[in-house]
Amino acid sequence: MTLKKINPTQTKSWEKLNDHFDKIKNKKIKSLLEERNNPDNFNITWEDFNVDLSKNIIDDTTLDLLLQLAEECELSDAISKQFYGQVINETENRAVLHTAVRSLKSSEIELDGVNIIPSLEKTREKIKDFTNNVLSGKLKGSTNKKFTDIVNIGIGGSDLGPVMIVEALKYYSTSLKTHFVSNVDGDHVLEIIKKLDPETTLFIVVSKTFTTQETLSNANTIKNWLISKLGKNCVVKHFAAVSTNENAIKEFGINSENVFPMNDWVGGRFSLWSAVGLSISLSVGYNNFNNLLLGANKMDDHFKNTSYRSNIPVLLALISIWYNNFFKAETQAVIPYTQYLNRLPAYLQQAIMESNGKSVDRNGDTVDYQTGNIIWGDTGTNAQHAFFQLIHQGTKLIPCDFIGFKKPLHKENTQHDKLMSNFFAQTEALMMGKTENEVVNELKSSNTSTEKIDSLKAFKIFPGNKPTNTLLINKLSPESLGSLIAMYEHKIFVQGVIWNIFSYDQWGVELGKQLASKVLKEINENKISNHDSSTSSLLKNYLSNS
Ligand code: F6P
Repeated sequence: MTLKKINPTQTKSWEKLNDHFDKIKNKKIKSLLEERNNPDNFNITWEDFNVDLSKNIIDDTTLDLLLQLAEECELSDAISKQFYGQVINETENRAVLHTAVRSLKSSEIELDGVNIIPSLEKTREKIKDFTNNVLSGKLKGSTNKKFTDIVNIGIGGSDLGPVMIVEALKYYSTSLKTHFVSNVDGDHVLEIIKKLDPETTLFIVVSKTFTTQETLSNANTIKNWLISKLGKNCVVKHFAAVSTNENAIKEFGINSENVFPMNDWVGGRFSLWSAVGLSISLSVGYNNFNNLLLGANKMDDHFKNTSYRSNIPVLLALISIWYNNFFKAETQAVIPYTQYLNRLPAYLQQAIMESNGKSVDRNGDTVDYQTGNIIWGDTGTNAQHAFFQLIHQGTKLIPCDFIGFKKPLHKENTQHDKLMSNFFAQTEALMMGKTENEVVNELKSSNTSTEKIDSLKAFKIFPGNKPTNTLLINKLSPESLGSLIAMYEHKIFVQGVIWNIFSYDQWGVELGKQLASKVLKEINENKISNHDSSTSSLLKNYLSNS
């Protein structure tokens, strides 16, 4: 019923991968490109996606062994357990069904003997009606004015997914301006409030638990501000909520018609497809929201039904494991070549690092191998002028995902070829590097003196052999974006399965919640209890200035 507990390092393929690593580790990608028997295995075309995996330090054998590793870790068993609602989130005793939320109306998924699709469909209908009513002006504020602005109040999974998608799909925006408040830092909420007209703003409180300190503090600050401007009765008209905690919502004063359910079998960081995406639907219209879900659903089908050899999330996960566990590359960068995806790295940081940042395996034993990587990145070409120096010439191996689109969104965009030439040139340069000969010839051709060439050349050499995956997608649309995000979700899952960890809990984050409330009590009472000497002295310092 639950996931199998297989230590990947005890498998035959892991042992073979170790031996194979010694043979291949110093090989050049540019020669591997020529040596591979079947180059098609390293380039996958699916729907609007072309995924080029050929610029990696892998050959036919590496691929075969990685695929064997997936078999030995019984990945297919894990995939069907996830999709069919088994309790694979064992430590929280929950199924993991974000894929059900975006599945088609006609599908059937049973949980505890009940088909959950009709109730999910009901929520989708509610999101649709609410979106249309706000956009048409049927639903108005307490002073009978049409809404012009919406504010999503949430944090973590109740913020990062919606904010990333709303930013990514800005081109498809409706007339509503969308804002996000997440941090418990009061300056964040106050900066947002500054821009708002209380009469025309709708607030959506998104919190699975409705107990999160950040979200409740921001919601209460906003509620008090709104009441001070429009009076007590405005709350029912200006607030909506997305949560599993009906009692707390009622207590807050939110009209039950504006309440959207969540399910405990959808993890926060995988929840943008559910009612948590209400701000997305309002921001881009329900049809676009629905297309986002359809795109994700198509990727789900691809992941479920395609053999591992041409399965995009499976291959990306295995290649990432190859660098993480054999090359010991600790980090991985994601570089989207579109400004619209500027929040993707932050979103993926939560999705990947909260999921796979675990050091205890599914048996409860401490692992003696590496698990979740550190994820970071920024948009190209901005990133080229920031951290690419380190990727090209630094001491660390940083595998990168390059994401680019064949077509720009704006018809008047005359710069797209410039953007994309950088995209292609960078992955080529990262692989090819620049040899001493090339450096010397280049300097000679610009009439540099021999003396100067000798003193400069070492600094101008690029070692190359830096691995990249290239994702070339036709166009940034709600559908392709849905597929892209679902692709990363499945990659996370495959890695977690192989590393023998639980990807869907987050006990490490819970600690912060408990500790902060204890310290807050001490600050409020001006009474510092027992801490280590460093913390006590910092707290004393803080209280002496307040
Ligand atoms: O960051 C930890 C976490 O538990 C996330 O998983 C979740 O998305 C976030 O906090 C917010 O929780 P809630 O939606 O219950 O307010």
